Amino acid sequence: MTQDELKKAVGWAALEYVKPGTIVGVGTGSTAAHFIDALGTIKHQIDGAVSSSEASTQRLKALGIPVFDLNEVDSLSVYVDGADEINGHLQMIKGGGAALTREKIVAAVAKRFICIADESKQVDILGKFPLPVEVIPMARSYVARELVKLGGVPEYRQHVVTDNGNVILDVRNLQILDPGALEKSINALPGVVTVGLFAARGADVALIGTSSGVKTIE
Ligand code: A5P
Repeated sequence: MTQDELKKAVGWAALEYVKPGTIVGVGTGSTAAHFIDALGTIKHQIDGAVSSSEASTQRLKALGIPVFDLNEVDSLSVYVDGADEINGHLQMIKGGGAALTREKIVAAVAKRFICIADESKQVDILGKFPLPVEVIPMARSYVARELVKLGGVPEYRQHVVTDNGNVILDVRNLQILDPGALEKSINALPGVVTVGLFAARGADVALIGTSSGVKTIE
């Protein structure tokens, strides 16, 4: 099976976690796009969605799924999204698609986070995938110097502006042995909007696409 077929399999498998009559939290990226397509087939059974990016909003609307502002919604039973890396504790690196801040906000509101990923995303130790950090533009160089002190090699993601008008630093060379501690230290730097480490709030369920089927980890 191709990587995209594995992504499609988990995107559709996630439908099982969607409760009829609810508003669904929706992530961003190529795996989440398959989930959105699947959601389109049951659009009359749900009330709508809260989206984590302009790209996902467009895809949801094109399928006729109502998209709500998060401020209009009291609770979300589920948030479904992909990951760039996921470890055995269901902690993740996210933000390859630059949507990490909105993803973290919507994930925080949801009762359950269902991570959908193909098997190439599974790792023992997070950090091989460069860790995205969303930064207020004027703080870019300062934050980059501080990230070097933490042992990383930050690189400015050229020509990318987030949906929130900020920039992204991708941090290489990190072997993240304590994801919770690193998440806190990077989030504490002035100018950092969000780090793409999802450790304090990891996933509750991971659906992993493998050539022998979809594996569920809880
Ligand atoms: C978007 O900012 C990311 O967090 C995505 O969820 C992540 O990059 C996974 O993307 P794919 O599903 O395209 O691999």
